[in-house]
Order: sequence, then structure tokens, then C-alpha cells
Amino acid sequence: MKIGIITGASSGLGREILKNAPKYFSDIEEYWIISRNRSALEDAANESTVKTKVILLDLTSKDDISKIKAELETASADVRLLVNNSGCGFLSDFDISDPSEQGLMIDLNVRALTMVTHTVLPYMSQGAAVINISSIASFCPNARMTVYSSTKAYVTSFSRGLKYELRKRKTNVCAVCPGPMDTPFITKGGIKGQSKTFETLPYCKVDKTAKGALKAAKRGKGVYTPTAFFKFYRVLAKILPHSIVIPLAKT
Ligand SMILES: NC(=O)c1ccc[n+]([C@@H]2O[C@H](COP(=O)([O-])OP(=O)(O)OC[C@H]3O[C@@H](n4cnc5c(N)ncnc54)[C@H](OP(=O)(O)O)[C@@H]3O)[C@@H](O)[C@H]2O)c1
Repeated sequence: MKIGIITGASSGLGREILKNAPKYFSDIEEYWIISRNRSALEDAANESTVKTKVILLDLTSKDDISKIKAELETASADVRLLVNNSGCGFLSDFDISDPSEQGLMIDLNVRALTMVTHTVLPYMSQGAAVINISSIASFCPNARMTVYSSTKAYVTSFSRGLKYELRKRKTNVCAVCPGPMDTPFITKGGIKGQSKTFETLPYCKVDKTAKGALKAAKRGKGVYTPTAFFKFYRVLAKILPHSIVIPLAKT
């Protein structure tokens, strides 16, 4: 059976990707939607125009990630699309931060994304696509979100390397690098009203970002950055020394 897997489909960007994916990946017969929140996933499933399967997992648990393999075996799955979207980000100066929040960002944004990809790849056939949700934070470290931006630098770098490794299998890997979006991420991370950067920057529309990400992955792009403003920032962060770019952000 042709499967699409979306982690973090219970809210925000993941939920919007689920809504829009059937238009771009029309051959997928069933979407597996993953998060820890059953009722939110069921709401997302009810909203969807395609067949969905709700899978309750905490991706920071190694045991839970191994359950994905069991599901893939049982379904004789041919995964055409994997969207690694589950992620979190906490605002704080590192030296006074809560260590469990810092660890969680690494466990979810880095370890879980890597291990889910490793688990699913053997079940992906030629021409499939992986979308890894990264961030503009991956282009240059952001003060007070230093660990978050480091995890996203990993996501973009991992995606670029894997894209090259998988070229012969014609499996595209696309890192999606949005700027701020109005999703629960902002409140959960203690960002709302606490970050001049987030108050100053233009927000990316969640629906447009979802559609752009799916289109970019389908076209074989390696990195997708929504909006002209953040495309310009990406170039700036590439050509200027980070010692100049880091202090530009208002903290
Ligand atoms: N919003 C922004 O400003 C922004 C900007 C750039 C990039 N991003 C990235 O975009 C992605 C989506 O975030 P969002 O903005 O849509 O925020 P969101 O609404 O908070 O979505 C985060 C998703 O991750 C899931 N998740 C969290 N912990 C999990 C766990 N332990 N196991 C499984 N799933 C888990 C959540 O599901 P449950 O809580 O139901 O488990 C939720 O569905 C993230 O990777 C984020 O880093 C966000």
C-alpha cells in the first residue's frame, strides 16, 4: 500500500501539510499521522479528504520509534512521502535555561528525525520524497535560541547530505526553512511577547508554507525557504561572517 507519513500532524504546519498533501502526492492511498495527542490527530483526520491512520507516538521514546517499523511491516508499506515535522523550540539564554527543555530540542529535532528517517527509508521506493522541517534558524545561530538553531542547522545539513546519498534511488530530500509562523510553537516555547526578533520579523503564512514545501519536494528541490525576505536572509547569512549576522537579530 502507498503510504504518506507525517509526524506532528496534530497542529500547525504538520496539520496544514496533511490538508494539502493529496493535491501534490495523489498516488498515496493512506496517510499515517503521528503525534502524542489522540483527539487533535482525530480532528486532523476528520478534516482530511484522504484515508488516514492515527498513530499515537512520543518520538522522544526509542521504543515508540520502533513501533513505526512494526506498522510498516504489517502494512507491506511503500512509503512515497515522509514528512519529519515534529519539533519544538524554547526561548532562553542558555546559561539560565531549563536543561530538560534544551535536551528535549535535541531529542526531538535531531535524534527522532534521524531515527524515524532511518526506520522508514528501507520502505521507500524510487521517486519517493522526504521533507524535513528545518527553519531559517538553520542558516545562522540565533541568540537565546542557540540550541534550537543548532538543531535546525543539523536538520538542513543532514537533509543536504542525505539527498546526495539517495540520488541513485531518486529519493528526494528537501529541507524546509520557514521564518516565524503563527502556530502553537510560539506559545509552547515561551516565545510569545518575549522575543524582539519574533515581534519584528514578518511571519510566514502556514498554508502557503505547507503548499510551497510539498511543491518544492515534488520538484526535487533540496532546500525550500518561503518568501523573498527570508530567501534574501539565507543569502546574507551565507556570504557574511556569522560574527556579523548574529548581533543583527534583536534579542
Ligand atoms: N512556528 C514557527 O515559528 C516555526 C518556524 C520555523 C520552523 N518551525 C518548525 O516547524 C515544525 C512544526 O512546528 P509548528 O510551528 O507547526 O508547531 P506546533 O503546532 O507546536 O507543532 C509541533 C508538532 O510536533 C509534535 N510533537 C511535539 N513533541 C512531540 C513528540 N515528543 N512526539 C511526537 N510529536 C511531537 C506536536 O504534536 P503533539 O504535541 O500532539 O505530540 C505537534 O504536532 C517544527 O519542526 C518547528 O521547529 C516552526
